[in-house]
Amino acid sequence: MRLLVLGGTAWLGSFVVADAVARGHDVTALARGASGPVPEGARFVRADRTRAGAFDEVGGDWDAVIDVSRQPGQVRAALDALASRTAHWVLVSTSSVYADPSIVGGDESMPTHPPLAGDEMSEMSEYGPAKVACERAVLAAMGDRAHVARVGLIGGPGDRSGRGVYWPWRFAHPSTPDGRVLVPEAAHPVQLIDVRDLAAWTLDAAETRASGIANVGGATHTLAEHLAVARQVAGGTAVPVPVDDAWLDAHDVQPWAGPRSLPLWLPPGVAGLNSSSTARAESLGLRRRPLAETLADTLAWREAHPDVVLGAGLSDDDERALLAEF
Ligand SMILES: NC(=O)c1ccc[n+]([C@@H]2O[C@H](COP(=O)([O-])OP(=O)(O)OC[C@H]3O[C@@H](n4cnc5c(N)ncnc54)[C@H](OP(=O)(O)O)[C@@H]3O)[C@@H](O)[C@H]2O)c1
Repeated sequence: MRLLVLGGTAWLGSFVVADAVARGHDVTALARGASGPVPEGARFVRADRTRAGAFDEVGGDWDAVIDVSRQPGQVRAALDALASRTAHWVLVSTSSVYADPSIVGGDESMPTHPPLAGDEMSEMSEYGPAKVACERAVLAAMGDRAHVARVGLIGGPGDRSGRGVYWPWRFAHPSTPDGRVLVPEAAHPVQLIDVRDLAAWTLDAAETRASGIANVGGATHTLAEHLAVARQVAGGTAVPVPVDDAWLDAHDVQPWAGPRSLPLWLPPGVAGLNSSSTARAESLGLRRRPLAETLADTLAWREAHPDVVLGAGLSDDDERALLAEF
């Protein structure tokens, strides 16, 4: 397959490129090169998609394009330049397109945000609407020659967001000598898809010319099940200390991500943020490795890269102070 990856220098994109090269495809990746190198074996086209003529060096016909962009203007420019000479298009979108975060287990028919007006999102609050605009552009230009993967939380080796890293790492490195670890008591569902499984899905979708929209996420576990797996892969000796939503709220602990957070914890009313029905993708052949394998590999990655600054979790000092107060 002659494959063009728009991106390919950041996290998911580089796994897509590496897997495509390993499958024997003829792979080109187009990016600025600011996020990192393109994996070996692929041709690299250095270009800035915000500039006119960004696709001038991308000649010929393509069996598939895979695009990870969140900027509607970049997606429209790519389609203008390439749609007429591309057989199939895969857009990596997001479950953040859905407008109502309280719906748990909803399918692809859930209402989405209105599309972003304009070419470029400027802040994360515009991410969902921006991806809606990207989806609409791809579906309008390619019709049933397009696949839109509405992706849930991604985890696995290389996860700098820290959301999938914190729990196995924290259970392996408690902040107190007695091994206690502050955990949320909340019982909502959690879905985390391994970046390697998602890369494989995008390639499978390109190879099989999968059509239409599908939610693509990890298998559904409760938060307690997810934490139990994380504790186990970290050796199984840490002692969870469950705390309820009200206590966490009163002590200024943030949900989901960011500084001073308990990652993956969602307050009531937004549990649907991390639990869509993936039945359609499963019926199309979505393959997922066990969560334990993902979290074990994530922990191994973190142990090998202790200096990477993660975007989620409690610092040792914060956790010690919170445990002392509790
Ligand atoms: N993380 C999650 O949990 C999550 C959840 C749902 C969906 N997603 C989606 O999953 C995908 C993740 O993709 P990713 O990990 O590869 O990271 P990304 O940060 O979304 O990748 C952006 C890619 O586009 C390139 N790029 C950015 N601006 C450019 C420009 N002006 N011109 C040319 N290239 C440009 C970047 O390379 P250069 O900087 O080198 O140019 C990079 O390769 C995204 O579509 C994201 O929305 C993520």
